[in-house]
Amino acid sequence: MSMWRVPKTTSSTDFAKRSMTAVERWRSQLEGWAVPHELLDAVPWNPYEWPAELFARRDAVVSDPKMTERHTNAVISQLRPMSLIDIGAGAGGSCLDLAAAGIRVTAVEPDAGMAAQLRSRSVDRNLRVGVVEMAWPAAADAVGAADVVTSSHVIYNVPDPGPFLAAMHAAAGIAVVIQEFETHPWVHLRPYYMKLHQLERPMGPTVADLVAVIEETLGVNPTVERWYGGPPMWFVDRDELLDFYGRRLVVPVDRRDDLEATLGPSIVELGAGRVQLEERQKSMATIWWRV
Ligand SMILES: C[S@@+](CC[C@H](N)C(=O)[O-])C[C@H]1O[C@@H](n2cnc3c(N)ncnc32)[C@H](O)[C@@H]1O
Repeated sequence: MSMWRVPKTTSSTDFAKRSMTAVERWRSQLEGWAVPHELLDAVPWNPYEWPAELFARRDAVVSDPKMTERHTNAVISQLRPMSLIDIGAGAGGSCLDLAAAGIRVTAVEPDAGMAAQLRSRSVDRNLRVGVVEMAWPAAADAVGAADVVTSSHVIYNVPDPGPFLAAMHAAAGIAVVIQEFETHPWVHLRPYYMKLHQLERPMGPTVADLVAVIEETLGVNPTVERWYGGPPMWFVDRDELLDFYGRRLVVPVDRRDDLEATLGPSIVELGAGRVQLEERQKSMATIWWRV
């Protein structure tokens, strides 16, 4: 794992937004990510969908001990939990390794494709993981409590973070541990949205915005540990990469040439049948507090 201290980012708020509460600022930045209807109407897909197979493939690489970069799992292990709830567990990128370490894991995952990947990967690894196929916080009553409640790469999708965080806090016996990118995960797509659609996209929210929300809604001052790493999404060839980002960037198939010309210079061939968009070090944060 590469772990570096990076300068604490400032919140992406502008002067006019300083009078907003942290929650309002969070919501308004997420609203800024909404894709205009005229773009959505021009394609038959949902740009926000989760490609479960790609996550599972990425996580399989992450589970290779040589590739493990999850500082967050080290923080969780140091808390010595017997039980854990992983909210938005996806294909099991973080919770399967924790289950393998002997922690009793309940995964909350509303997406049927992700939940199916998670179940089959836990069977492959001979692990017992409870899977609750619901969204948080609606799932809170069904799931109950655990020593540690965690969530990685979910909260930037949550426009109303107060109830989400409050339910995490209430369900935890020892601590809440959140992993996130330093900025909203689509921020690196801003230049492509501009080039392809002349569309301005927000710069956030950021981890600093999330910390402000936690302080405001829970009255808690979390510890923030910053590090570089994070599992990259990778593709078997340029076509698969263009399919994936064409969907995220809402580019109709008849504009494939534009898409290829725009992304082409940023496509990196990693060798061994792996292709990636940009060779970037991802700035990550583990945000956690004892309850
Ligand atoms: C980017 S994936 C992250 C998966 C996994 N945690 C990881 O780090 O690899 C985000 C996941 O959060 C799930 N999700 C989104 N909103 C959710 C909510 N309100 N409650 C629970 N899960 C949610 C999605 O279905 C998706 O599987």
